Amino acid sequence: MANILIVANWKMHPPTFREAKKLLEKAKKAASKRKHISLVIAPPSVYMRELAKGARGARLAFAAQNAHWEKGGAYTGEISMQQVKDTGASYVLVGHSEVRARGESNDDTRKEIAAALSAKLTPILCIGENERLPSGAHFSVIREQIGIGLKDVPQSALSRVIIAYEPVWAIGGEKTLTPRDMHEMAIFIRKTIVDAHGAQGYNVRILYGGSVSENSAYPMLQDGDVSGLLVGHVSVDADRFAELLASLSKV
Ligand code: PGA
Repeated sequence: MANILIVANWKMHPPTFREAKKLLEKAKKAASKRKHISLVIAPPSVYMRELAKGARGARLAFAAQNAHWEKGGAYTGEISMQQVKDTGASYVLVGHSEVRARGESNDDTRKEIAAALSAKLTPILCIGENERLPSGAHFSVIREQIGIGLKDVPQSALSRVIIAYEPVWAIGGEKTLTPRDMHEMAIFIRKTIVDAHGAQGYNVRILYGGSVSENSAYPMLQDGDVSGLLVGHVSVDADRFAELLASLSKV
């Protein structure tokens, strides 16, 4: 049974630490019965240290939703990769579309990936087009996001990078990409990486994100050519998320 990576992006939820603890307990319980699932929780950073401490020994990892590339300095409101690592996280989302919408550029993602790797964090580079046009122009958007984002990654570190393809138009609702379209995109992503970085690029793991639900998770993992999923709003609904994990027993 292949190992599946499920990343739960809690975004700016839940409102209290008490609720965060409960949500984590339920997710942990649902995942514990499924040894082929590696669960990564991306909570708001203020909850990270306590949650990670409480989860010690569990087959569970943590991700920051965003972090800065500088080691330190006058960056009010930001956190560094080293600070993220110090809270107990081992992954970091880079270039999430909601962060890009606030001004993050491809060049910023390039610096964040380098900083994450040197802090011994696994970067998850989020890519995705805002809209799909019949011209197929979205492929150039993806090529550029990958090209610049991974530009400084040495070949030896390439397999430590994860790509999460999240078409922006599919985020936050119930409208999702078809597994067939994901399969096509996964081939394109791999080819783009291999063209720029050589055969090591075949080892890069690809996740799908964008309205993943208890209904769409299994078909996407079966036919979408991805090794995992990035789950947003369904991951903060404990019952739906447990159902989603349960639906993966057959994968
Ligand atoms: P969603 O979010 O599952 O709510 O679409 C995914 C994401 O933004 O990472």
